[in-house]
Amino acid sequence: MIEALNSAARRVPGWAVYALGLVPLAWIVWLVLNGGIGVDPVKAIEHRLGKVALWFLVGGLAITPARRGLGLNLLRFRRAVGLLAFLYVALHLVAWFWLDMALLWAQAAGDLIKRPYLLMGITAFLLMIPLALTSNDASIRRLRASWRRLHWLVYPAVALGGLHYLWQMKVITAEGWIWAAVIAGLLVMRLPGVNRGVTRRVNRPRTG
Ligand code: HEM
Repeated sequence: MIEALNSAARRVPGWAVYALGLVPLAWIVWLVLNGGIGVDPVKAIEHRLGKVALWFLVGGLAITPARRGLGLNLLRFRRAVGLLAFLYVALHLVAWFWLDMALLWAQAAGDLIKRPYLLMGITAFLLMIPLALTSNDASIRRLRASWRRLHWLVYPAVALGGLHYLWQMKVITAEGWIWAAVIAGLLVMRLPGVNRGVTRRVNRPRTG
């Protein structure tokens, strides 16, 4: 089963991941143009973009554990998934600043003070900027070991993105708890001891 998935994944061209990743954006635009976005379009656009960002962010974080734990190799899609996450977070931020804050800095500053979870979101976004800027082959070659160190920023970025999502809820729903558990689980799996344990178990030769 996993082998079938791996061989199917090998045949998927890189551009197809970007094309697929833009489908949610096209869907939101379509809903806006056709009046299907709901009674509060600004909130709906903000929420939809935030949710897609979270999917890509968490999806990107799941790629390495899926390889180590299940043998599912989607590593070649990691850059596309990360860049799509960045794109959706950026659009989510733009939607807030443009549609909600009417591009007014003073109003935006007031909103940040009133809703501290926005600061968490912005911090997560800021942490993602160097990751997006250095995601090209030239930067990977030039930075070498520092590139790996720099890309550790993805962990606080996901944690802050997750906290931002939970905090903006008035009451944490079942869906919120599921996201929290998945994010916490994925982060725990990256702790050095746990990480080695999972890899060792999967790579252990089969007996009998
Ligand atoms: C990694 C970064 C971020 C992630 C993963 C993220 C994700 C989310 C998610 C999933 C939601 C709720 C969607 C829903 O309930 O359907 C949300 C809400 C929201 N986010 Fe973000 N977000 C991030 C950064 C930001 C930034 C930078 C801003 C802008 C300052 C922002 C502003 C908002 C606003 C205004 C809401 C709606 C709150 C409300 O309705 O009261 N987010 N975000």
